[in-house]
Amino acid sequence: MAFSAPYPMFRPRRLRTSPSMRSLVAETHLHPTDFIYPLFVADGITAPREIGAMPGQYQHTISSLVDIVGESIEAGIACVDLFGVPRDDDKTADGSIAWDPEGILNRAITALRETYGNQIQIMADTCLDEFTDHGHCGVLNTDRFGQTVVDNDATLPLYEQMAVAQADAGAHIVSPSGMMDGQIAAIRRALDEAGHHDVAIMAYSAKYASAFYGPFREAVGSSLEGDRRTYQQDPANARESLQEIEQDIAEGADFVMVKPAGPALDIVAQAKAISPVPVAAYQVSGEYSMIHAAGANGWIDQQAVMMESLLGIKRAGADLILTYFALAAARSLQG
Ligand code: PBG
Repeated sequence: MAFSAPYPMFRPRRLRTSPSMRSLVAETHLHPTDFIYPLFVADGITAPREIGAMPGQYQHTISSLVDIVGESIEAGIACVDLFGVPRDDDKTADGSIAWDPEGILNRAITALRETYGNQIQIMADTCLDEFTDHGHCGVLNTDRFGQTVVDNDATLPLYEQMAVAQADAGAHIVSPSGMMDGQIAAIRRALDEAGHHDVAIMAYSAKYASAFYGPFREAVGSSLEGDRRTYQQDPANARESLQEIEQDIAEGADFVMVKPAGPALDIVAQAKAISPVPVAAYQVSGEYSMIHAAGANGWIDQQAVMMESLLGIKRAGADLILTYFALAAARSLQG
C-alpha cells in the first residue's frame, strides 16, 4: 500500500538541500568575539609548560602570555581571562600574594595592559584558591563544634582587596569565581570606593560543584584536598541558579555566568530568559580534555566536535563562551 501523506506534505528537507540554503536559514552563528580565552600565568618558570591533562594549553611565562594574547587579538578574540599560579612558597592561609602588586597575576595584568591597552579586554579571576596553601576559595575557620569551615564573611574583604589590586594593575573586568554569598556587592562597593567605576564584574553566578573541573586543578597546581560542596552549587538543583543570577544582578553584576556549560545547558537557557545582562557560559577544563582525548584517539572528529559543542552552547543562550578552544575556534572561523 502506498504511503499517503497529508497534502501539502511537511517537507523540512527543502531547507536543507545545499550548503547555501543551509547557511541562509542558520539561526546560530559563531564569531570570534563570542569567545573568552582562559589563560594561565605561572611564577618561577622560564619557559611555558604544557598542562598534561589539557594538551595544547600552557602555564605561561609573562612573555609567552604576552605573545599568545597578541595571537588572540589577531584571531579576533575580544577578551582573555587570566589565572595566576604562584610559587608554592608564596601560598599562605589567606592567599595574600593575590593582592600583592608584585604577585604573578597582577604583574601579568599590567604587562598585558601596557602592551595592548584597550585592544583586548583583560579579565582576571578573582578568587583565592590558587593562592591559599589549603586550596580553598576562602579563608578557613573553626566553628564551635571544631569543624573546619570556609568562612564566608571573613573572605569578602580579601576579595575586595584582590579586586582592587587587579583593577589597579589594569584589569578591565574582574571575575569573582569563589561563590561566597554577597561577593558581588562587596566587590562593587570596594571598586567604586577606589575610583574604579569603569571596571566591570563578570559574576560566576551559577557555578556547580563539578567533577568536570578536574584538569584545572593540575593547571593551577591546586593544593586542594576535599571538595567545594559547601560553597559551590549542587548539580542536582536548578532553581537556586536563577536565584543566584537574580541576586548577583541586583548586587551589580555586569555579566552573569553559568558553569560548567555542556552539563548545564538547561541553566544557560533559563539564565538567558531572565537576564537583562549578558550571559556567559564556561566550557570547563574537563569538557576540553574529553573532546581533546577522544579526538586524539581518533574516536571523534575533534575539530567538528569542538565547533558543534560551541554552537550548542551559543544556541542554548550564551552570549559569551569561556573556552580553552577559543583560539583554535576563532582561527577556524577566520578560515
Ligand atoms: C576557581 C575556579 C575553578 C575553575 C575556574 N575558577 C576551579 C574550581 O572551582 O574548582 C575551573 C575552570 C575549569 O575547570 O576550566 N578559581
